[in-house]
Amino acid sequence: MSKNISNLSGRIGLKNNLFQKISERSLKSKNDSGIKEIAEEYKMGVSTIHGAESFYEFLRPSHREKKAFVCNGSACMCAGTQETLKKKLKEKLGEDKVGEMFCLGHCYENHAFHYDGENYAGKDINQIDKIIKGENIKQDKYISKSFASTSFLMDDKLSNIDQVKNNLKKFLNTDKKEIVNSLLSSNLTGRGGAGFPTGMKWDFCSKAKSEKKYVVCNADEGDSGAFSDRYLLEDQPLKVLFGMIICGYVIGSNEGVLYIRGEYPKSIEAINGSINELKNAGLLGEKILGTNFSFDLNICIGQGAYICGEETALIASIEGRRAEVDVRPPFPVTEGLYKKPTVVNNVETLAAATGILLNGPDKFSAIGNKKSAGTKLVCLDSFFNNPGVYEIDMGTPMKKIFEEFGGGLKEDIKAFQIGGPLGGVVPATEIEKLNLDFQEFTAAGFMLGHASVVSIPKNFSMAEYIHHLFEFSTEESCGKCFPGRLGSYRGKEMFDQLKKGTSKIPIKLLNELLITMKKGCLCALCGAIPTPIMNILKYFGDEMKNDILKDN
Ligand SMILES: Cc1cc2nc3c(=O)[nH]c(=O)nc-3n(C[C@H](O)[C@H](O)[C@H](O)COP(=O)(O)O)c2cc1C
Ligand code: SF4
Repeated sequence: MSKNISNLSGRIGLKNNLFQKISERSLKSKNDSGIKEIAEEYKMGVSTIHGAESFYEFLRPSHREKKAFVCNGSACMCAGTQETLKKKLKEKLGEDKVGEMFCLGHCYENHAFHYDGENYAGKDINQIDKIIKGENIKQDKYISKSFASTSFLMDDKLSNIDQVKNNLKKFLNTDKKEIVNSLLSSNLTGRGGAGFPTGMKWDFCSKAKSEKKYVVCNADEGDSGAFSDRYLLEDQPLKVLFGMIICGYVIGSNEGVLYIRGEYPKSIEAINGSINELKNAGLLGEKILGTNFSFDLNICIGQGAYICGEETALIASIEGRRAEVDVRPPFPVTEGLYKKPTVVNNVETLAAATGILLNGPDKFSAIGNKKSAGTKLVCLDSFFNNPGVYEIDMGTPMKKIFEEFGGGLKEDIKAFQIGGPLGGVVPATEIEKLNLDFQEFTAAGFMLGHASVVSIPKNFSMAEYIHHLFEFSTEESCGKCFPGRLGSYRGKEMFDQLKKGTSKIPIKLLNELLITMKKGCLCALCGAIPTPIMNILKYFGDEMKNDILKDN
């Protein structure tokens, strides 16, 4: 069934993309008008269109009735800024006009909210009258700085169209194998979480036989604490787009798409602007710079579903299906978007691929080690004296990152959630034992992931934090597999009861639930959420001892 929908959606393709059509109709109309016409155009049943539409938070009538949305991500929650913010917005806009959104990527200043298509944070709420009137206000920016021995992601080697033109001239006339070999010898691994070697991914896809192939940039960064992809999309867009163009050249694709989350309106604007600049300069389109290579880029805007960051759900979303995870294999490199061979890469991976081509693979592989090579963007939240996004050599001690680059902490912090809601909860006492290294984090029972840091202050209840994590996986899981669907719900129920004071935590049952989810889930959303919860139970058992039901 889903194969048919992929193929039907693929007949029309990215230029008149089904998901964008479904979203636009839904955002414009309060009733069902127009659904039948879309179904007829794509030769699908009306229920298929309804089914896809009802999956997304932003397309639900209950969401569309609201005017403002406060960020309910982990960083804003730990900073404790959101209740007062919500109250102020409700006073201005009405009790039932304020909803929630999961992580707006303003973890460095908190107080984050979304109003009328724009994000605001920090002190912006003090100018709410101007915001409501539609006036532009001056907003604070975060610190972005490279501490790396060589900067691959933050330098200005690809910050204007002339630089793109000169480098395209060079690399579109370089042997494709040579480019793949550069990536392979750089030891670049995917920055989106799974850590697959990027050169190998491009190589596999280049060898797949098909007339049509796709390059997909995964810009659905939803991890609380992370704003590094947002930095690249807004401040280094040409590096990301250059990576996509070169990937297209290497694998033999003439079309790519960036799936950008709707919570990042400025990123969408920046990428749109850069695509237009490239088109106007003849650096996208037919026979680029007189070569035989043609390539075009499209944008797909997410509609508020964290699971769309998982590559098979992301593909389903672009195709206009419900964004449910698919079983792999087949992997996208052989059967991806519209069932055609596809490279799906994270924003930072694509920018790093560009940096490697511009600076040489040896400089990248010389940093860190074979499995954790090169540089990485690290995001520090508002509890640090210098919150911001930093480019840092892999292998750097975490203590140095926190104390030297981050300037130390403003208050007593007992733990850090590193790598988003699916990453580990690292007790403050363990930080000095860790370096910025994917494998080291995993070996210690944590997960580096996208390297975002959310600080959990001393007075924040760990039972409350576990409740937040279960609530997140209950809200954001796709519902495809039952260990994930039921497990998340059951876990949340246990902590709901604890909060209400109706029951303590049956620890044996909770441990069994966590192991079942870890072992039985189809993907790492509900399958990895046990990691931070187990970390908390292991390291903060003392704090939680009164919450736990003994002898069960
Ligand atoms: C629940 C879940 C959420 C994910 N979210 C993202 C995301 O926001 N961005 C991303 O690039 N990869 C995300 N991934 C990983 C992707 O599935 C995929 O591995 C990645 O986009 C591949 O690109 P890379 O090789 O450049 O890392 C997520 C995976 C899971 C299981
Ligand atoms: S683990 Fe959760 S998000 Fe992943 S497939 Fe299962 S229900 Fe969906």
